[in-house]
Amino acid sequence: MKPTNSPKTYRVKSFGCQMNVYDGERMAEMLGERGIVPAPEGEDADLVVLNTCHIREKAAEKVYSDIGRLTKGKTQDKAPMIAVAGCVAQAEGEEIMARAPAVSMVVGPQAYHRLPEMLDKAVQGERATDTDMPAIAKFAALPERKRTNPASFLTVQEGCDKFCTYCVVPYTRGAEISRPYGDLVTEARKLVDAGAKEITLLGQNVSAWSGEDDKGQAVGLAGLIRDLAKVDGLARIRYTTSHPADMDDDLIAAHGEIDKLMPFLHLPVQAGSDRVLRAMNRSHTAESYLRLLERFRAARPDLALSGDFIVGFPGETDAEFEETLKLVDAVGYAQAFSFKYSPRPGTPAASMEGQVAKDVMDDRLQRLQAALNRDQWAFNRATEGRTCEVLVERKGKHPGQWLGKTPWLQSAWFEGDVGIGDLVQVELVEAGPNSLAGRLRERVAA
Ligand code: SAH
Ligand code: SF4
Ligand code: F3S
Repeated sequence: MKPTNSPKTYRVKSFGCQMNVYDGERMAEMLGERGIVPAPEGEDADLVVLNTCHIREKAAEKVYSDIGRLTKGKTQDKAPMIAVAGCVAQAEGEEIMARAPAVSMVVGPQAYHRLPEMLDKAVQGERATDTDMPAIAKFAALPERKRTNPASFLTVQEGCDKFCTYCVVPYTRGAEISRPYGDLVTEARKLVDAGAKEITLLGQNVSAWSGEDDKGQAVGLAGLIRDLAKVDGLARIRYTTSHPADMDDDLIAAHGEIDKLMPFLHLPVQAGSDRVLRAMNRSHTAESYLRLLERFRAARPDLALSGDFIVGFPGETDAEFEETLKLVDAVGYAQAFSFKYSPRPGTPAASMEGQVAKDVMDDRLQRLQAALNRDQWAFNRATEGRTCEVLVERKGKHPGQWLGKTPWLQSAWFEGDVGIGDLVQVELVEAGPNSLAGRLRERVAA
């Protein structure tokens, strides 16, 4: 590659999970420290960071179509400088470098604190790949949090040791690690100083977080939530994603005791058949999952539930799929994500016998989503007539309209004299399948 001018503007495009959104924000902050500014809406950026996801085949292929679009018909001086970050970078770093000569930098999710050095090299015309996994080192090397949204993310735990047989995350994010307690309390305070009202604690297995508090006592996620709830100015706490294996009594109790902990739990189950769950290497059964939810609901009766599902795991029969529908009926999810099984290179399930035909998967996904949509709408209808607190997150489509989130993570829109970051009381007037129309009752706090 030829040497080039230092980029003046950037755009970070994040795909995949909320951990990638968090990483994307941190990369943007680092570029900001270097005096590079976000490219104005609608204008090309000098530097584009594609922060990619490897979870399913379609998600992973997106990176190549994006590179094609960014460079189509452009010479090197006209095309943007491109960095590929995230989980595709980790899994296919060398391949990207070989397949996409327009890419200057490939940086894995545990190495992106080195992006500025790589940028210096790229300006000199040197391509660079960094897919080391120093996990914790990254956080210490990142700049302080200075700006944020009213609803912010805070990564507390990374990586996964569960090795579900279909999943790439243990390979792209590495082993489970917990960030130290003190760093998290400090970062949470900085986020609140910068305007955050709500913090969602993130981790691929967030309930596996563990640490030592400032008195040297061992604490789990519930202990961390209890202490973060004492941070003045922080109104709401959420956490995601949990694995059924790591949910302890203390966390269940926390849902009944801590007002700031929102009544929402995302707890992926994946399937309703115990044989399929075993083949997936999930450590729960349908029954143990349902019993666990009962205990959460006993602690917090209005808890809204969310889950993830995979249809068409290798060997899944029609009868086994029916068990997933049965489980959905038993739970009554407030929302959920569902996917067709996608074989991922290097995972055990990719070479299992009995790969399910695409049309069978399509049909199962359609039936499952119909059931989940029905339940989501029913949940929304059940909250009609309630007045609840809404955190205003952005402007709506029409002038004077605002969008925010209820405690149960529903989107609610309403009109009134409010601003982004306000916590307001809203009466939920009319439920739709994906959101609710509300009426502003009163402002609670600015
Ligand atoms: N750590 C979380 C979520 C990880 S990825 C958990 O364990 O639940 C988010 C979701 O993507 C998973 O819950 C699963 O439903 C889905 N997923 C992961 N690998 C997949 C694959 N190979 N094909 C289809 N869906 C997949
Ligand atoms: Fe993937 Fe399973 Fe780990 Fe979740 S628990 S990240 S699905 S391996
Ligand atoms: Fe995707 Fe990586 Fe998240 S594979 S879902 S971006 S951990």
